[in-house]
Amino acid sequence: MTTDLILKFADADILLDDAAYHKITSQDNSKELADSLLKDLIKNENSVYLLTEEMVDEFLEDKVELREPIIQSKLLPQEFDFQIIHDASKKSYTNGEIKDFSSYFANRYHKLWQMLTKKKELQNVQPIKNAQRSEDVVEVVGMVNNIRNTKKNHKLMEIEDETGNIPLLVHNDNHQLYEDAERIVKDQVVGVVGSRKGSLLMASQILNPGIPRIDEKEMNFSAVFLSDTHIGSSTFLEEAFQRFLKWMRGDYGDEVQREIANDVKYLVIAGDIVDGIGVYPGQDKELKIKDIYQQYEEAARLFGELSNVKIIIAPGNHDACRLAEPQPALPEEYAPDLYQMKNVEFVSNPSLVSMDGMKTLIYHGRSFDDLAMTVKGLSHQNSDIIMKELLEKRHLAPIYGERTPLASEIEDHLVIEDVPDVFHTGHVHINSYKKYKGIHLINSGTFQSQTEFQKIYNIVPTCAQVPVLNRGSMKLLKFS
Ligand SMILES: [Fe+2]
Repeated sequence: MTTDLILKFADADILLDDAAYHKITSQDNSKELADSLLKDLIKNENSVYLLTEEMVDEFLEDKVELREPIIQSKLLPQEFDFQIIHDASKKSYTNGEIKDFSSYFANRYHKLWQMLTKKKELQNVQPIKNAQRSEDVVEVVGMVNNIRNTKKNHKLMEIEDETGNIPLLVHNDNHQLYEDAERIVKDQVVGVVGSRKGSLLMASQILNPGIPRIDEKEMNFSAVFLSDTHIGSSTFLEEAFQRFLKWMRGDYGDEVQREIANDVKYLVIAGDIVDGIGVYPGQDKELKIKDIYQQYEEAARLFGELSNVKIIIAPGNHDACRLAEPQPALPEEYAPDLYQMKNVEFVSNPSLVSMDGMKTLIYHGRSFDDLAMTVKGLSHQNSDIIMKELLEKRHLAPIYGERTPLASEIEDHLVIEDVPDVFHTGHVHINSYKKYKGIHLINSGTFQSQTEFQKIYNIVPTCAQVPVLNRGSMKLLKFS
């Protein structure tokens, strides 16, 4: 402690005189006092190079309470250019009326219609009502209903707009189209080029709104991505998490790893920060902390050690939040200690933020369950493929009314309107990373070891592996 204290000040180019040193060390909370004092001196840019007893006294008078759970080891204060571009927290007005339900779908349709009708293949889109009578090639934009296979194994679905609906047939002779059609899900909005055959529309092309290739943005900092820490669970890997925190503070890992830690400006958490209460039957048997408030208190204690990075927290399905998506930001009443932290931003699930110009789309990933169950070839193991598919569909949870509860809002906040630089998800507890059309697709795994539920389904989580976007290149750091 003694030399530590002197060195800590020396690192910041501040010398302690003997009296100041004794003053600090004679306090009960000397370590916290030293950290807090140092932080204050740096923050106020005082050009102090010799700290006297008087100055310590002055500080003690000003700061009666030293209760911030802050132990700061990275001393240089950072400048953040952080913006919340899209957040649904305060824009959620649903009252569950049927009117909202139809306006929700109308809004989804309209937003995606605008994207689809910009495509060169869809320059002559007409209402489905007109397509029912047309003799020529028709172009329509419709929401998909009732997908099934016919006896001869063609794909038959119904597409709908506000003027009417028409059955759409995808012939299995058209191999590529049939393959594409296998990835179409209920309630997604597609563009169709086809010709009328009796009462059917025979598809020749089915188009997603799609995502353009983007130029990669230059990054002069690093960002860390976490999700599914599940603090409070008896399977929360606390020791590994402590190593992670230590690394974040620059005190763990080899030289290269420490250098990366020093470069970190942002820490994004894509939901399930705590394990929650009553999320599934019998969950209390697997909880170490059985009180939701205490779970968030513990989260604040742990993340409170990181005061020099901006922490962005979005909720997941285990958090104390409305389950229906978009989930508003975590309410302050459940996590007052986290709200006390000045470096934490709370956002909705999903949300779009800008971290020094890097547009980051944060989504917990609940809809992966529906996609993995519905679409052949998609699974929890490769969420990068699901993420790619969602980007092309330009919707985070296209299937309505399955496992992902969606709120029928006046506006559909799950449409992917802006093209992000980073798409960050969690939920499946399995890390994945892919760069797709210049976009970083990141699933940030978990800090929870295999649960009883996962044992039954043979899901093997990738634990304590933290993705770091280090100036544009992905590094996966292991803390297990
Ligand atoms: Fe989850």
